[in-house]
Amino acid sequence: MSQNTDTTDYGPLDALVGSWRGVKGMDVAPEPDGTEHNPYYETFLFEPIGTVTNAESQQLAALRYHQVVSRKSNDRVFHNETGYWMWDAEQGLIMQTLTIPRGVSLVAGGSHTETGDTMEIRVHAAASDANWPIVESPFMRDNATTVSFHRTIRVAGDLMSYEETTVLDIYGKRFDHTDQNTLNRVV
Ligand code: HEM
Repeated sequence: MSQNTDTTDYGPLDALVGSWRGVKGMDVAPEPDGTEHNPYYETFLFEPIGTVTNAESQQLAALRYHQVVSRKSNDRVFHNETGYWMWDAEQGLIMQTLTIPRGVSLVAGGSHTETGDTMEIRVHAAASDANWPIVESPFMRDNATTVSFHRTIRVAGDLMSYEETTVLDIYGKRFDHTDQNTLNRVV
């Protein structure tokens, strides 16, 4: 069940509201000499923050989110991500702004599908996409550039799963950096 109690219509994002915990994550990340597989656990918090109006015309219902991911092997946080999810009801558009403390941010756009009790939300961004771009520091541009990002989230009641692919140019090659997990709503 969603925890949302304000009067804003969050549309498909209503399915995300609350605190989530997942312990079956798998990260595939680049290493100079190949690939590393990192089992992980994490918390995800999505908080409703009401409606934002842009240029006195665009109305966005927004959630603020925070994802904290820890390696199972040493219990250290190794991914920390924050931003906003926004729903533009007039356009039927979902947007996500994402920032990570590597000097990388993006604005992703996408859509949703509701099938039975499952809400599926998909967003993407790409360095070459004029509408949904990625921005990064000079160091990351030159050494570990993010080429594209795709994330799909499915929520059915109090169960969430996601998978995402972040395509990187790093160590002289193209690398599909992937993450996936299944979470339960805890609040
Ligand atoms: C559950 C989510 C994620 C986890 C657990 C994760 C974990 C990792 C790990 C382990 C590395 C290898 C370097 C290191 O050990 O720190 C890495 C590299 C990287 N990740 Fe992620 N990541 C996640 C999501 C993302 C997302 C969403 C983005 C950007 C949209 C991203 C961008 C990068 C970049 C640019 C690098 C290259 C930096 C480097 O290896 O030195 N990651 N990530």
